[in-house]
Amino acid sequence: MNFDALVIGKSEFCENNILLRIRQAQIADKAYPGQFVNIKCPGDGSLILRRPISIMNASPNEGWFEIAFEIRGKGTRLLSEVNVGDTLDIMGPLGKGFEYSYDYRRIAVIGGGIGIYPLYFLGKKMTECEIDVFMGYRCADRVVLSNDFDREGCSVYLSTDDGSAGYSGYITSLFKKVYEPGRYDMIYVCGPEIMARTVTAILGEEKSICQISMEERMGCGIGACLVCTCAVNDKGVFTRKTTCKDGPVFRASDLVWED
Ligand SMILES: Cc1cc2nc3c(=O)[nH]c(=O)nc-3n(C[C@H](O)[C@H](O)[C@H](O)COP(=O)(O)OP(=O)(O)OC[C@H]3O[C@@H](n4cnc5c(N)ncnc54)[C@H](O)[C@@H]3O)c2cc1C
Ligand code: FES
Repeated sequence: MNFDALVIGKSEFCENNILLRIRQAQIADKAYPGQFVNIKCPGDGSLILRRPISIMNASPNEGWFEIAFEIRGKGTRLLSEVNVGDTLDIMGPLGKGFEYSYDYRRIAVIGGGIGIYPLYFLGKKMTECEIDVFMGYRCADRVVLSNDFDREGCSVYLSTDDGSAGYSGYITSLFKKVYEPGRYDMIYVCGPEIMARTVTAILGEEKSICQISMEERMGCGIGACLVCTCAVNDKGVFTRKTTCKDGPVFRASDLVWED
């Protein structure tokens, strides 16, 4: 289902990272952490494919949701040029998001770069449990949301590749230092594939309590074109599933990493 949705807020999180608050009551009402919206890029008819962006926050009461994105190419550049008062053509909410339970006592969320955005929405839903947030960025200038997670009472573990803030190195190295089997009821991951693969390797047998949001390139966003499939082991049978409709969130124990 696609909607004309009004942009009601815009700010710059950090260089090249834009936050938009969008009024659309139905999306705000149904949005679930890990789900995404598929947005028609405004102003260029040649960009036929919509761009998928995760829902980062939603207020069903006030009828808005938020997205945050990094400017990477033409589509996100056009999206960054919208202003408050403009209307966007948006499909959503799409996909299967993170499974969560209010019975969990302690969880870890592990986000790399833009991967932290959907995990923020999850953290806002799980206020009753202890949350260890592992966030990895390229450098200090790119760090976003760490103060917000702090304010929510989470324990924040921050790393930068160049050591300009927090631990120096990849966030997976920091996670490996902190992790011990049995520490978490569930572990949630969103970020580059290499990060997700490394977390899976660290967890070993405990990968069954890990959910990974996959960042495949997408076409239709609704399960029709099959460009976004990933390999999974479905109860012992090797098959392919669409990231947009069957995912983007999968159990780490179900994913089959392809070279
Ligand atoms: C389910 C899902 C949720 C996403 N959520 C967010 C989000 O919350 N915030 C955000 O900033 N981005 C998110 N992305 C990535 C975002 O969709 C791409 O960055 C965007 O489509 C690039 O479009 P473009 O026209 O600007 O760049 P293009 O010109 O299409 O590509 C520019 C660069 O971005 C890379 N790229 C394109 N698509 C993807 C992709 N799907 N994953 C990783 N790299 C990609 C390309 O390889 C290329 O290097 C998400 C992607 C998916 C599949
Ligand atoms: S993007 Fe078309 S099937 Fe997933």
